[in-house]
Amino acid sequence: MKLVNVVKTSRLFVAALAVVVGSASAAMLPQAKSTSSLEQRIAPIGQVRIAGATPVAASGSQQARSGDAVYNQFCAACHTSGVLNAPKLNDAADWEARLAQGMDTVLRHAVQGFNAMPAKGTCGNCSDDEIQAAIDYMIAEL
Ligand code: HEC
Repeated sequence: MKLVNVVKTSRLFVAALAVVVGSASAAMLPQAKSTSSLEQRIAPIGQVRIAGATPVAASGSQQARSGDAVYNQFCAACHTSGVLNAPKLNDAADWEARLAQGMDTVLRHAVQGFNAMPAKGTCGNCSDDEIQAAIDYMIAEL
């Protein structure tokens, strides 16, 4: 093949490539425009609602949840019946020795996990303040 022909052929190829790339990016444009609807579609599914509790967003909620909401959603499963010796809701005998360690230690155990107590009591997106509020709720009536 002569050099001239090679140059002509590759020009044709580049032109064809430009058409393909051009139409591909055109096809992608509408998607870029609908980012917000994409965010809606991949948003967490629904909310968890427990009878008597304020509804709590599945994740990413900006507002701090109340101690009672966090407790009912995340802690109640173990702390209502005392699963694996979890200190029970408002049970003074269960809480006495634990509170004697000081609230800093109790909070640290709740946030970091402690034996069978999972870190943040499984509320992965809870702030330390929300965990503290849940603890306060658990000992409010001692
Ligand atoms: C899977 C069960 C389970 C869940 C869910 C759970 N806990 Fe616990 N929790 C335990 C167990 C078991 C212990 C006792 C651990 C030990 O003393 O060995 C405990 C202990 C604690 C203690 C006492 C720590 C100490 O220093 O003695 C606090 C405070 C606590 N949990 C807070 C919470 C909070 C707040 C939540 C919810 C956000 C929660 N837990 C969710 C099982 C659970």
